Amino acid sequence: MKKIAILTSGGDAPGMNAAIRAIVRSSIKNNIEAYGIMYGYDGLIDNDFVKLDISSVGDIIHRGGTILKTARSDRFRTEEGQYRAIENLTTNNIDGLIVIGGDGSLRGAKDLTTKGINVIVLPATIDNDMGSTDFTIGFDTAVNTVLDAISKIRDTGCSHDRTSIIEVMGRSCGDIALQAGLAGGADFILIPELPIDLIALSEKIKRSYARDKKHSIIVKAEGVSITNDKLAKYINDKVGEEARITVLGYLQRGGSPTNRDRVIASLMGAAAVDLVKNDDGNKVVVWSCNDIDYIDIDKAVTLEREADLSLLSLIMDLS
Ligand code: F6P
Repeated sequence: MKKIAILTSGGDAPGMNAAIRAIVRSSIKNNIEAYGIMYGYDGLIDNDFVKLDISSVGDIIHRGGTILKTARSDRFRTEEGQYRAIENLTTNNIDGLIVIGGDGSLRGAKDLTTKGINVIVLPATIDNDMGSTDFTIGFDTAVNTVLDAISKIRDTGCSHDRTSIIEVMGRSCGDIALQAGLAGGADFILIPELPIDLIALSEKIKRSYARDKKHSIIVKAEGVSITNDKLAKYINDKVGEEARITVLGYLQRGGSPTNRDRVIASLMGAAAVDLVKNDDGNKVVVWSCNDIDYIDIDKAVTLEREADLSLLSLIMDLS
């Protein structure tokens, strides 16, 4: 009987549990044994394997976080850590390791494949910062969480005639800011992929005032280099308007996954099991043009995500 092992790694993302469920249940259907590894690559080094059966993954499809826990493993970046990880996969007779995580987890997976381990990656991070896939598991939920926050902040900003600066996550990727900014009717977006244009920002707020709209929403991705305080001060000093800051932080990582995240996670999980069943692997299961596709891990690590600047100009046109 074949054996699959699953780990979740890096920042948690809503929909990871839906992916784990799909992998375990598809494995059982295909007569493959499924094991979970606790705490990501750290658990792999520590041989922290648990057998998963049909009921281990009951009642989790709707839950954020990950039942397998997660970690950012420093030990796995060392040769010794990777050697131990490989030893544990070999002694446990694992035919395929499924890694659910983001960019760093993908690089860890690549290290294992170059040392002869069969790995399959499911892209999962709220940041959507992976060049190989249109959407990562967790991104849609995070964007909807941000959208809900923008609407609430709009209510109070509008009542007080204030400019609201809303900082969102995403590391060096502006996708959360772009999607939530467009859907939330933001007046200005700051993303790390583009230089900061404070003149354009202040002109935009002034134009809004000129048409008697006295509240503005600025969505700023966390990777943008200007601090929130400096930005608020600039608006106070140069535009003469009151600016308030909201840093959304970790609430973006939690919550029940959206329909889209659950569906993508389930399809990706089942596709990963198919690869192992067919003696295939060393691939990232991606979401491309509304369908499942596969990209070699070697290639996936070289792909950079590019910001969709057409969204930015649409935001400016519509606000
Ligand atoms: O990668 C997901 C993410 O939430 C980023 O948006 C954020 O910059 C980072 O993780 C925070 O990571 P940590 O929780 O390890 O500090």
